[in-house]
Amino acid sequence: MEKFVIKGGIPLKGSVEISGAKNAALPIVASCLLIEKPVLLKRIPKGNDIFTMLKVLNTLGCKSSWDKENLILDASNITSTEAPYDLVKKMRASYYVLGPLTARFNTAKVSLPGGCALGQRPVDLHIKGLRALGAKVEFKHGYVSCKAKRLKGERVNLKGAHGSSVGATINVMMAASISDGITIIEEAAMEPEIVDVANFLNKCGANINGMGTPIIKIKGKKKLHGTEYSIIPDRIEAGTFIIASVITKGNVTVKKCQPEHLKTLINLLKEHGVDIHKGKDYVSISPLKNTKPLSIQAGPYPSFSTDLQPPMVSLLSVTPGNSTVVETIFDNRFMYVPELTRLGADIKLIDRYTAIIKGVKQLSGAPVMASDIQGSTALILAGLIAKGETHIARIYHTDRRYVQIEKKLTKLGARIERVTDPHAP
Ligand code: UD1
Repeated sequence: MEKFVIKGGIPLKGSVEISGAKNAALPIVASCLLIEKPVLLKRIPKGNDIFTMLKVLNTLGCKSSWDKENLILDASNITSTEAPYDLVKKMRASYYVLGPLTARFNTAKVSLPGGCALGQRPVDLHIKGLRALGAKVEFKHGYVSCKAKRLKGERVNLKGAHGSSVGATINVMMAASISDGITIIEEAAMEPEIVDVANFLNKCGANINGMGTPIIKIKGKKKLHGTEYSIIPDRIEAGTFIIASVITKGNVTVKKCQPEHLKTLINLLKEHGVDIHKGKDYVSISPLKNTKPLSIQAGPYPSFSTDLQPPMVSLLSVTPGNSTVVETIFDNRFMYVPELTRLGADIKLIDRYTAIIKGVKQLSGAPVMASDIQGSTALILAGLIAKGETHIARIYHTDRRYVQIEKKLTKLGARIERVTDPHAP
């Protein structure tokens, strides 16, 4: 098992380039199942979740190859419409193959993803959407099977108890793009990744309007054609490096990002007292002096991102005064908090959704364990400022999104190493 060993105390300096967005790349890769011609995708982040998605697609008969940094996918000869448990259990987003397979082949069998570290995470809204388009859905032996004569456009509302679903909006949008008639998704999620998937599909000949608003209208087409497409920058990776600069009192320019996707974070950091300068595709952060505590609620876009909530809590844990962070999307999002308190943070969880953070002067290094992708970034950022050494185990979580995060941090001056530890949990 590998772990990170971090020696804290160095302000980050220099510039870092952001990779393509994992959460846009995953559904875009899956949506290639809709297309009978080859597709060339640029700026695909080579995190482990992408490789899991490629394994799922390869199992279905889709061919994939890399040409330097570009990914070429050819789904012209699909040989199976079943996504097995062994792969789906590794990553919930494998579920993205359900909509495209049902739309193109009128049949799909995909293992139910089950719960995950962040909580229950049901798939009822995905199913509601596909049923609305005419799919007959059955659950048996841990699998969901969809069958249809041909999917047909319909009006469907995708709001759930925790807000609109990103995954369900994308799954239904992909399926509707090659269905008969018109589909209207009401209370659609509005994340930039959804807009990116729609832009990609439109470039392949789909007719999707309203993406990025609560009402998406899809006029189904018979077929889509191949194209070349470049994925948007990862706003979560960009946000993590911005917060890393702030927490280390550093001076970092985050390049090749889209600042308009980071508006809420930037406004919060300005309220916090940070000096931020943004250009068309970069954000520069200057060292800060006096910072203020914050009151934050994480929710669906354009609210503050739940995926940036963990690194933000690390920052607030060393901000004088009391801050409050409320989570509205995931039941277990604060799982990383007990590990952060091992580093000396003073955080009280009022319930599963509310944390009160009392800023401390200094964190101190300790061995800790990552619990999920973004929880691991909270620990890395805390390690960067903790006195002494922080050892972070279970960094396979980090590797699902971040492509060798330690290399990017080292380039900014951080003392972080990936080491193999046979005794690590
Ligand atoms: C995506 C992102 C994840 C991000 C999340 C919220 C990917 C691969 N992952 O996850 O990083 O944290 O959006 O921005 O893009 N829900 C239901 N029924 C459903 C589907 C979801 O009740 O059928 C609930 C979920 O349990 C959760 C909420 O709706 O409480 C939002 O989930 P959703 O937006 O679907 O998140 P994901 O697409 O899984």
